[in-house]
Order: sequence, then structure tokens, then C-alpha cells
Amino acid sequence: MLESESREQWGTRVGFILAAVGSAVGLGNVWRFPFQVGEEGGASFLAIYLLFILIIGLPAMLVEFSIGRRSQRNPVNAFSVLGHKDWSFVGVLCVISGFIILSYYSVVAGWTIQYTAASFTGAYFEAPAEYFGDITEGFGALGLHACFMAIVVGIVALGVKRGIEISVKILVPAIVVLLLGLAAYGLSLEGAMGGLEYYLAPDFAVLREEWMTILPSAAGQAFFTLSLGMGAMITYSSYLGDEENLVNDTTWIVGLDTGIAFIVGLVIFPVLFAVGLDPASPGPGALFIGFGEAIAEAPGSRVLGVLFFGTVLIAAISSGISILEVVVSFAIDNFEMERIPAAIGIGVAIFLVGIPTAFDGSILSFYDGVVAEILLPLGMGLLVLFVGWFYGDARDEVQKGLGHRLGGWFPTVWIWQVRTIILLVVGLVIVLAAIDAYGTLMEILGLAEENGE
Ligand code: TRP
Repeated sequence: MLESESREQWGTRVGFILAAVGSAVGLGNVWRFPFQVGEEGGASFLAIYLLFILIIGLPAMLVEFSIGRRSQRNPVNAFSVLGHKDWSFVGVLCVISGFIILSYYSVVAGWTIQYTAASFTGAYFEAPAEYFGDITEGFGALGLHACFMAIVVGIVALGVKRGIEISVKILVPAIVVLLLGLAAYGLSLEGAMGGLEYYLAPDFAVLREEWMTILPSAAGQAFFTLSLGMGAMITYSSYLGDEENLVNDTTWIVGLDTGIAFIVGLVIFPVLFAVGLDPASPGPGALFIGFGEAIAEAPGSRVLGVLFFGTVLIAAISSGISILEVVVSFAIDNFEMERIPAAIGIGVAIFLVGIPTAFDGSILSFYDGVVAEILLPLGMGLLVLFVGWFYGDARDEVQKGLGHRLGGWFPTVWIWQVRTIILLVVGLVIVLAAIDAYGTLMEILGLAEENGE
């Protein structure tokens, strides 16, 4: 590859995987995943979600990697390098999505700062649910949103690689150990088994009735948690060389990310059942209320709380970096900006866009829904369409570095999956999301009419 000589590359092979894992593992796993499971009916959602990770998430990640590595560019400029300048609008869509994601992601990350600090004093131990309600909206939440943005901007402004590699090396093992410990504790509680059943035994009647909302939520969660659909993985893989085995890396990233989310569910649902809470009722508070309860009761609460929420915070930072990096590298390449002013300017703009979500949880949920069920599927759908039908032979790109064990047949299976199944499912998801949005709109209009009478 001509360009790659002059372009910066990941220090080590492990460095790339760690950064990609750092991007994938974050609030999507510990915050978003459990409340999606709780709102969508438990194990039935989990089953579809896991299926989607396998048949859509894995191949879709390879789609982003094949764009990034071949073009060695950010998502906007990648298309020109690949000979399809007219597709650059997809990259622009990615940048816009990144902007919106980080604006409210940062607010939720702010809550974890609050919980880390509150663990020192045990402020939420008495009444986790009330505490959550008190701190998530208002000037406190706004201040912490500013704080989180400042951290992420600072790291991106200084250039990221070293920091990410080190923090993820500590982070992943730490979070797995903490989660397993908490899961063991949660499962030992009286009444925990009900939660386990809710989480792991799918009820197909629920699936038959609710599929129209379960499918788009599960697909949206799969994209969100794997950092897909807005070019983060394109950007990270643009620093890779041809010897890299993309299939191997994808398997590791997806496996770790899915494993971590799965264990989070093993903590939350047993605990919610043990304390007698309906799993759907905490909504976006599931993490904070569920873990709040568990930590408050467990031995060594304060230390445990600081360790746990502190680790979640680091995970959120390494994900936030990957989102901001897409927008900043786009600005640097296209507007000839310097890294530091670009990071600061964009950080301030993202902070401003996020302000409403720091004051109103329903606005936060609205942003979150638009991102996961519209922007990410749309972005991913377009990337998949591009790689499947316009890119040239993408099998070559996946074949590089693969060796002969999977070589030959795997890229062929993959490309047909991309050309058919993923496109169909993503199309279906977008249609279902549109129907849902239409229904909500009608409801709002209907309510407005009734009130007007
Ligand atoms: N995947 C991250 C998480 O689970 C969030 C994230 C990082 C993300 N980069 C992204 C989500 C790109 C969507 C798109 O917390």
C-alpha cells in the first residue's frame, strides 16, 4: 500500500485490538444493555440480540475494517480514495452521528463520575432509586457533563494511542474480575433465581407479540455496543497494515464486548429480583439502581463502589475518545485545523448540543433512540451497501493476513452475508423504527387534540 509508509500505524498488533476493545466496551455494555433487556422483556430480547451480534455485528465490523484498512483514511475521505467520491456523504452522516452520540453519552458518563465520588461516602447506599432520580437531571449533571467532555477533549487533544493502550490493558481484566465477583454475590441473594430465569429463559410468546419493537432495539443495541455505524472502526482500522488478520481481531473484539455485557446482566437481574423491583421499571437507571443495591449490601461497599464505578468511568472515557476522534480527525484533514483547537472547538460544540439531555431524561432517551434506531442502522446500512455492491472485491481485503485455515471459503460466505442478509435485516429495522416513530408521533398529535378539546 502506497500511503501506509508515511502514515502512522498502531505500535503493536495488540495495541489495535486494545483500542478497538476500549471503544466497544463502555456504557453501551454496562448502562445501555441492561436497560434495553429490561424494557424489551428479558430473555427474548437477549436471544435476538445475541443472534444479531453473530449474523450482523461480526460481519458488519469486518465491513468497517475493510473500508478503513484499504483506504487508510477517515470515514469521509475514505470513499474518494476507494474511487467513489459520491459516497462521501455517508462519511458526513457518520460525523454527524458521532457528534450526537457523544453529546448525551457524556451526560451518562457524568452520572458515573457522580457515583464514583458518592461511593466514597456511601451517599446512594440507603435509597439507590431515589438517589438516581435526584442526581441525573439538573446543574449537577450539567457540571459533570462538562467535566467528562473536558477529560475526553484533553486526551484527544494530546493524541491518544499510548493512553488508550495502557488504560485498556488494566481496564478489561479489572472489569471482568469485578463483574464476576458481583455476579457471584448477586446470585447468592434470596430471590435471585427469578432474575436469572427472566434473563435467560426466552418466552416465545413475548417474541411473537413484541417483535416489532424487539428487532429494532436489538439491532440498535448491537451496533451501539460494537461502536458500529459511525465510522469509529473505520478510523481505528485505517492505521492497520496488510499483515493484520481482521477476522481474528473481529472475533476477539466482539467476543470480549459481548461477554462483558452478558455478565452485566448476570449481576443486574438477580439483584433487581432480589430487592423486588420490576426489571422494566428502572429504565435507564437499571445500572445505577441495580448495582447501587448490590454494592450497598455487599461487603466492603465503599471500596467496591469506587472500584466499580471508577472502572466504568474509564471504560466510558476510552469509548468517548473513539467517538470524538472521528469528528476531530475529519476536521483536521478537511479544514486544515490543528489538533488542539479542533478538539477544543468540537468538544465545546458537543457539550452545547448535550445540554438539554442533562436537564431532562426524556430528551436523553429521545437522543438515544434516534441514534440507536435511526442513525446507526442508516449509517451501517449504507456502509454495508457500499462494501457489498460498490467497493470492488472486498473479499481480497478480508483475505489479507487471514492465512489458509479460513482462507478461501470464509471471505466468500462473508461477502454474501453482507450483500444479502445484513442489508435485508437493516432495511427491516429501519422500516420498523419508522413505523414506531410514526405511531409515537400520532399518539402525541392525538393527545394534543384531546387536550385541545
Ligand atoms: N460502543 C461504545 C459503548 O458501548 C460506545 C461507542 C463508541 C459508540 N464509539 C461508538 C457507539 C460509535 C456507536 C458508534 O459504550
